[in-house]
Amino acid sequence: MNIIAIDGSSATGKGTLGKRLAQAIDFSYLDTGALYRGIAYEIINNGGDIHDEATAVSVAKGLSGAKMMALQNESVIRTEEYGRGASFVAAIPAVRQVLLDFQRRFSENPVMADGTPAKGAILDGRDIGTVVCPEAPVKLFLTARPEIRAERRFKELQLKGLCVIYEDVLSDIQSRDKRDKERTTSPLKPAEDALILDTSDLTADDVYAQVIRYVNERIK
Ligand code: DC
Repeated sequence: MNIIAIDGSSATGKGTLGKRLAQAIDFSYLDTGALYRGIAYEIINNGGDIHDEATAVSVAKGLSGAKMMALQNESVIRTEEYGRGASFVAAIPAVRQVLLDFQRRFSENPVMADGTPAKGAILDGRDIGTVVCPEAPVKLFLTARPEIRAERRFKELQLKGLCVIYEDVLSDIQSRDKRDKERTTSPLKPAEDALILDTSDLTADDVYAQVIRYVNERIK
């Protein structure tokens, strides 16, 4: 089973690494955070309550497979507001169950963007190595100091032309971490057999170089 699970908090470099790896080894890539963000986006923009289980489950069930795949390319869901909303929605077990089925199907039958079969699947999120794909031969868990992550996110948002305050970004990151780690269902934590990488003082190239060696040893 050719599956690479990448877990970790926001702004630890999961997406950058996942996309680069997928391109290099012809794997299909799924950013699972986009699924939770997409649900939050839908609820908030329809004036719904992000904490209402029935609403969140109904939105999750209404997402087609094609829509779930497409969400990761939508830039409108990348704001702190939808990240925060996603973290609330993600604490609802029934929502996770709906998304779990889709993520498992993707990992078992990964396809490339043009619909042709892929050599394997890369999923990034919070519970990929522990819950979604516990049998994955490669599990990576990325960490980084909150201040570094806030700085990365701050620069990213500024580049997009958004007006943001560094302290707000940091406190948002810290409260999201706390919620994601302390929730009862599928909390953010490394799988026992995950390779833990602190990316605080590493460039994206450094991380990639370490990981591709590790991947090549485990996936032929
Ligand atoms: O990776 P991200 O910042 O786009 O994720 C947004 C939120 O979604 C995150 O705070 C927690 C939740 N999430 C989750 O609970 N499980 C996943 N596999 C992916 C994301």
